[in-house]
Amino acid sequence: MQFLLATKNRDKVIEIRAKLASLNIDLISAADRDDLPDVVEDAPDLEGNAIKKAKTLFEITGIPSIADDTGLEVDALGGAPGVFSSRYSGPNATYAENVNKLLSEMKHVPSANRSARFRTVVALVSATGTRTVDGACLGTITTEKRGSGNFGYDPVFEVLGTGKTMAEMTLDEKNKISHRGRAFQRLLELIQKELT
Ligand code: IMP
Repeated sequence: MQFLLATKNRDKVIEIRAKLASLNIDLISAADRDDLPDVVEDAPDLEGNAIKKAKTLFEITGIPSIADDTGLEVDALGGAPGVFSSRYSGPNATYAENVNKLLSEMKHVPSANRSARFRTVVALVSATGTRTVDGACLGTITTEKRGSGNFGYDPVFEVLGTGKTMAEMTLDEKNKISHRGRAFQRLLELIQKELT
């Protein structure tokens, strides 16, 4: 059975393919097709964006479609940047600009109040309906950047119970405990159940 991953980000495609490798499915991605639009992510929450992306591609192609959306939710900032994580410091913000803005917003927040979580929502849309699953990774926002691996907010996100930021982990280490890894594990279980 064929599934379509609604992302053109080839790094994400590699990561998700590896995660779903044990399923007996033919997984293609929007990166393999130039006839598919970039879906505007303008929903008010992660669920809305994931569903919008998967639904749009399912309606165009008729292939069961999978999409994800991720945000960093910081408690001291009322859940921000959340759905705006990629454009926290402006529409074309770089990872470094977003991280610097976060550190500056958190400058006066004491260590006891620096809790945060990464959350990923994955939507699967097919002829049988729309399903969502999610995955979270809990941690705290550090006061300065640590580590040079991975991407995004990783240098300032210390994973609960590890003493390490995500940028101080290898990709393998990160994938085992990450929000995206956990959400796609749940998707794998859901597809397994539906295919049997
Ligand atoms: P997306 O929905 O996967 O495109 O993620 C939105 C934004 O969240 C990205 O632009 C990054 O800033 C941030 N982000 C997503 N996943 C991660 C991660 O695993 N580590 C650090 N930042 C992330």
